[in-house]
Amino acid sequence: MRIPLLAGNWKLNKTIEEANSFVNELKPLIADAKGVEVLVCPVFTALAAVKAASGDSAILLGAQDLYWKESGAYTGEVSAPLLKDAGCTHVIIGHSERRGRFGVPEPDLEGDAGRVFGDTDTSVNKKVVAALQHGLVPIICVGETLAERQAGTTDSIVQAQTRAALTGVDTNILGSLVFAYEPVWAIGTGETCAAEEANRVCGVIRATIEALGGSEAAQSVRVQYGGSVKPDNAADLLGREHIDGALVGGASLKADSFAQIVLAAKN
Ligand code: 13P
Repeated sequence: MRIPLLAGNWKLNKTIEEANSFVNELKPLIADAKGVEVLVCPVFTALAAVKAASGDSAILLGAQDLYWKESGAYTGEVSAPLLKDAGCTHVIIGHSERRGRFGVPEPDLEGDAGRVFGDTDTSVNKKVVAALQHGLVPIICVGETLAERQAGTTDSIVQAQTRAALTGVDTNILGSLVFAYEPVWAIGTGETCAAEEANRVCGVIRATIEALGGSEAAQSVRVQYGGSVKPDNAADLLGREHIDGALVGGASLKADSFAQIVLAAKN
């Protein structure tokens, strides 16, 4: 039985004070949630504060990215040991907003949903390896752009991103990983991937894991859906066979809407 993982990706939002208020508001709202894991992923500057505010609640802490080197002359970067030090158990890797050509939003992705931070399949793989070396659970994001979907390449893109992220990773641990299927065209657009199709593509990721690590790994690996998950579509998405939780952007910024999504997950 896979435990659903409901994760809030706050992206570039919330001061320390706002993060504290959120956690204090969320705790009682999800006190009755059973059989699920709840994770919040704040900006780096709020990680320690969220850890402290979470106290002995079951709220887990994740970061939104890392650099694969442990320390050294890497101005502006944060490493896996430092994320552990701040109390993180998870780290999002390869989010579409971190992929693409650095500083150059793609033509069809102008605005806030662009892929602008230069991550490639190779850097995503290095980050996954670094996270695992230091005992962080990576949430590996994969997903196609609108142009790729229209060209009929969704499955091959998702398979290729999944395989590339796992280069050199011990196939015995694949079952402990978390993937997030995030179709780029559904992120921050209000346009959700239909639950049936989201489930189908999450199944493609699971089948890729099966091909790499066998059926036990495929049964254990968790695959989240992300892209305009809201309280009113959460139950439909989370009730599907291959969808083991959600990676939530906009609707995770308010404690009440995030709590409604958490409570929509049934184990
Ligand atoms: P939205 O929920 O705002 O569409 O963002 C999804 C996402 O990118 C989560 O990582």
